[in-house]
Amino acid sequence: MSQTLIAPSILAADFANLQRDVEMVNNSQAEWFHIDIMDGVFVPNISFGMPVLEAITRHANKTIDVHLMIVDPDRYIKTFANLGANVLTVHYEACTHLHRTLQAIKAEGMQAGVALNPHTGISLLEDTIQDIDLVCLMSVNPGFGGQSFIENTYEKVRALKKLINDKGAATKIEIDGGVTNKNAKQLKDAGADVLVAGSYVFKATNPTETIAGLKEILK
Ligand code: DX5
Ligand code: ZN
Repeated sequence: MSQTLIAPSILAADFANLQRDVEMVNNSQAEWFHIDIMDGVFVPNISFGMPVLEAITRHANKTIDVHLMIVDPDRYIKTFANLGANVLTVHYEACTHLHRTLQAIKAEGMQAGVALNPHTGISLLEDTIQDIDLVCLMSVNPGFGGQSFIENTYEKVRALKKLINDKGAATKIEIDGGVTNKNAKQLKDAGADVLVAGSYVFKATNPTETIAGLKEILK
């Protein structure tokens, strides 16, 4: 079985010490950088935009996983490709023509991800799952770090894993929101491939050891 990847969410980093925090991830056992882009319209918060992402990618040496919490994401697909995104995830709820959006992301050489809000059902992906490289299941309502994990997520991971297997797809399952040492193993066992962790990593006294601890749990 393939290993479960850790994606520290930069939203929880210290923006006044961004290079230090990016280097911490570079030198840790984490595999990905998770980057949250919020527009204040799709979600009730604004995070950061292109210049900050550019500053991050100047130092980051691991997979760049960009999570767009914005309306009309099609407008920015090329921009994020140029900024160095490796995985580009759009919200199901923000896409009128999801199939077209997925093709546009892949045409720019990126992996195509779809995020589902907690209220959005797995069955809505039945007709697109084979075109999706990554499904990001929101285990909190998007917009803020530091919220508590929604327990219904386990059930959703299992249902999504079944859909992926039934359709013979190679889609990865990512969990985003409230991930800690308390739920990591159970999420892996349910079928998760990538765990995003923001506050749990960056608010820890020793983020590097916290990441190592998660990897240990996931062995
Ligand atoms: C929430 C973001 C998450 C967030 C996770 O809208 O998409 O990626 O940074 O943060 P924690 O791990 O603190 O819930
Ligand atoms: Zn996110």
